[in-house]
Amino acid sequence: MAVYHEPVLLKESIDFLVTDVSGTYVDATFGGGGHTRGLLSILNADARIIGFDVDENSSRIAEGFSSSDRRFSFVHRNFSGISESLAEMETGPVSGVLFDLGVSSFQIDHEEGFSYRRDEKLDMRLDKRLEISAYEVVNSYTADQLADVFWKYGEESRSRALARAIVKEREHGRIETTFRLGEIIGRILGKSPKILSRIFQALRIEVNKELDSLTAGLDAAIEVTARGGRVAVISYHSLEDRIVKEKFRYEAATCVCPPRTIVCTCGKIARLKQITRKPILPSLEEIQINKRARSAKLRVSEKIV
Ligand SMILES: C[S@@+](CC[C@H](N)C(=O)[O-])C[C@H]1O[C@@H](n2cnc3c(N)ncnc32)[C@H](O)[C@@H]1O
Repeated sequence: MAVYHEPVLLKESIDFLVTDVSGTYVDATFGGGGHTRGLLSILNADARIIGFDVDENSSRIAEGFSSSDRRFSFVHRNFSGISESLAEMETGPVSGVLFDLGVSSFQIDHEEGFSYRRDEKLDMRLDKRLEISAYEVVNSYTADQLADVFWKYGEESRSRALARAIVKEREHGRIETTFRLGEIIGRILGKSPKILSRIFQALRIEVNKELDSLTAGLDAAIEVTARGGRVAVISYHSLEDRIVKEKFRYEAATCVCPPRTIVCTCGKIARLKQITRKPILPSLEEIQINKRARSAKLRVSEKIV
């Protein structure tokens, strides 16, 4: 089988994340286990890693890890539920949480309806337990709702024209496949791979509620991390990066009173210290070897309370 996923910023993320080689760590986006494998290789025998992923294929790969290394256990759950799962497992506060957001190479190349390059039924659910897939979004959202998705998540200036074309096309029958959707996008916006992947990605973000999960996941990660522990996030999309950047900045601020307030009255307490003021980017060598690394940005913060 082809490599499931080549981990991005592997050394950099592990170097920043690990402050205690006997600590407990969360890999919030286990995927093919590339980052977990890297962590296991440097952590002590009494360390612990809890992996999370919503994808059943990751769950299967994780079984192999947990049966061969008792330091590892897996939870088939959205990372927005990290706090609840760790409470059930009675792990206590952890030394670090790593997020490597988005989708794995395997999901793009082999799972259903993610790519405009293969003709398949529209789906795009990372978690097959979700009720609404890309098929429902494309075939039942109103033109306004669709335009909102393309505008907000795809930053597409002709979002309304595309949404209207999709709704019109539905008069001739349901839009079942990736190729049929790609053909409509191509007619309205042009057929370039860049445009197609941006619109497909916007639909994927909507189907999986990726930005809402990220906001909830970051809150949960900050909550479960012990003082001195770290939260590290690798993002691939400007909207994801903005959420991470703003969250880290807010949590590091000691005052959020309106500008020009003379005496602080907000009582804000900083919970984090930013370890990376500017995001860490992959080297040119890494991008040459793994083109999926090209948009990656790593940000890291440390819990200080
Ligand atoms: C880029 S891949 C991670 C790859 C992994 N670091 C590796 O080296 O193999 C992202 C993974 O996060 C998972 N994922 C995305 N959103 C999630 C969420 N809200 N909760 C849990 N897993 C999620 C996806 O299913 C995917 O397997």
